[in-house]
Amino acid sequence: ETTVNVTPAALGFTAVAKNKNDVVTVPTGYSVSILTRLGDPIAQSTAAYKNDGTDTDFANRIGDHGDALYYYGLNADGARDDNSNIRGLLAQNHENLNVQYLHANGPTNVSAGPRPEAEAIKEIEAHGVSVVEVVQGSAGWAYVQNSTFNRRITPNTPVEIRGPARGNALLVTAYSTDATAGRGTINNCANGHTPWATLLTCEENWAGYFRRPRAADDARRTAKELTALIRYGVTSTNGNYAWASVTPANASSTIFRKWDAQATGSSASADYRNEPNQYGWVVEIDPYDKTKAPRKRTALGRMNHEGCWPGPFVAGRKPAFYMGDDAQNEYLYKFVSATPWVAADANAADRLAIGDKYLDTGTLYVARFNADGSGEWLPLVFGQGNVTSTNATYAFADQADVVTHARIAADVQGATRMDRPEWTAVNPVNGEMYLTLTNNSSRTAANADPANPRSYQDPPSTSRGNRNGHILRLRETGDTTEATSFTWDIYVFAAGSDLDATNINLSGLTADNDHSSPDGLWFGRPSNASGQVNPLLWIQTDDGAFTDVTNNQMLAAFPGRVGDGGTRTVTNTAADGTTSTVVTRIGAAPGTNLRRFLVGPIECEITGVDSTPDGRTLFVGIQHPGEGGTPAAPTSKWPDSQGGSTSLPATTRPRSGVVVIRKNDGGIVGL
Ligand code: FEO
Ligand code: CA
Ligand code: CA
Ligand code: CA
Repeated sequence: ETTVNVTPAALGFTAVAKNKNDVVTVPTGYSVSILTRLGDPIAQSTAAYKNDGTDTDFANRIGDHGDALYYYGLNADGARDDNSNIRGLLAQNHENLNVQYLHANGPTNVSAGPRPEAEAIKEIEAHGVSVVEVVQGSAGWAYVQNSTFNRRITPNTPVEIRGPARGNALLVTAYSTDATAGRGTINNCANGHTPWATLLTCEENWAGYFRRPRAADDARRTAKELTALIRYGVTSTNGNYAWASVTPANASSTIFRKWDAQATGSSASADYRNEPNQYGWVVEIDPYDKTKAPRKRTALGRMNHEGCWPGPFVAGRKPAFYMGDDAQNEYLYKFVSATPWVAADANAADRLAIGDKYLDTGTLYVARFNADGSGEWLPLVFGQGNVTSTNATYAFADQADVVTHARIAADVQGATRMDRPEWTAVNPVNGEMYLTLTNNSSRTAANADPANPRSYQDPPSTSRGNRNGHILRLRETGDTTEATSFTWDIYVFAAGSDLDATNINLSGLTADNDHSSPDGLWFGRPSNASGQVNPLLWIQTDDGAFTDVTNNQMLAAFPGRVGDGGTRTVTNTAADGTTSTVVTRIGAAPGTNLRRFLVGPIECEITGVDSTPDGRTLFVGIQHPGEGGTPAAPTSKWPDSQGGSTSLPATTRPRSGVVVIRKNDGGIVGL
């Protein structure tokens, strides 16, 4: 048993009060500065952002809706340096859009089309991933507009298909008739990193971008294909933003047509039925080399990938990656590489070749949680268990079919349906994995289970379900990434401190740490100079249920470990008054070892967090402030509002952004 020491013994800041102010609020003794914002130019020749809806050239700007981020160090010579605290590359996902602020008067015909080509180009290019050089100078942190490292990856960027689905008929498109390449990445949400210094970016809500009028070409689809489309939700008549409705000036352009998931003729060049199969993957990017195409790692399965955080890398052991599928009643997955870890690979020159070695071959598992606090990793391997060519629900053809339809394989293997699995994080000291389960409005008193045990109201809403979410954690059997079983408990149940302590506020949250809808989740880097043995856990919220009380927030914690609490019986009451009970596993009450560190501006979510290796500079993402507003009446003016100005024009448009948080005495953030 690993002994867990905490040095220092307590969080070193006073809790920030809940508030609805239009600024980022941090504890006394800390400072906030703005690092990057939507639209900031990242090429020398790109114009400054006017932020009035007339800007163009988004393939050379910071994208919208910044989500997960990661800092990759650089030395003075511009080479990779994992210990650099003053210069690095910030890689950030750009998940989605506040589309109303991208155009002067909002978008034209955004629901059904036809869309103007110029508007659609901006919207497409504002998605994807950015890699931007950042430096700490005498005036603090800033990004470098003309750095040769700066890079945008958009939904149009050429990518390689790797792993079991490479070359398979399911990935054949007009763009890649041998199924080895694809175009771009979209709805990139959470992330992961590797010790060989690459980024794992995750494609989450990709299905909604596709147009597929129901039954448009059903006659050309097999029953299996139709089952798969419905299971993944590729069902829209128009698609988000209706990009397929554009008539391009260049008639040979297919960057809009590709969002129309159907065949319009008998020739291969008119067949776009497989386009959705290009998305829903984990994508590996070398942040240090912009000449290298991103690689889609299909061995890790296709789903609404939220994140892909690795477990500990131990020489001679097969590494593992933990992945949530963020939709109601979806699953937690783990990929275990076929290749035992060789520590020297961390410093290989060809980083994506190391990715090929560890990420293209291995075993994909899905989690089942048992009532007694145990659990199993169920393999999603062609020919094993119910994942066979004779399965009555879905006859699998091969491993390419299994990974492309991982959700269906998980269904037939009997995985546990979870309350929207978002980020995973791994305690770097003991290897325990934490998983945010953000909320689930379809969780009922009748179907609550030990790992998803609550269904209730949170006034003023009259809806029921798991309204506020929880954070589950698991410990692998034998403390190894290779384990096929585990124990679990629930670290914390999110809730307002005013809610029923017997059945809802089970973790005893107070005014200093009550929160709702945990989403982003990250353990502080173990390399910081604090000597701490139990690293800080950071929790970020994306909440709609608690916004009557506070804007979204970030908390810091020293968590304990799996099994430090006990069992609890929860009584849920259905709308008709019927009650039912569930026995769950709950960790020790967090008490003052969980504390609110930050509150964001109006209508934002807090998502994306990393630090320099020394823990003294924290980077935090502020996503979609003012998302409910209009160009004529924005509901937030952040980040312009951060300084507290009361004289900003009423039509000042909000922008997603990244903030730098430093302790005024230069100490480690949070301690
Ligand atoms: Fe993009 Fe599930 O958050
Ligand atoms: Ca409430
Ligand atoms: Ca999220
Ligand atoms: Ca969320």
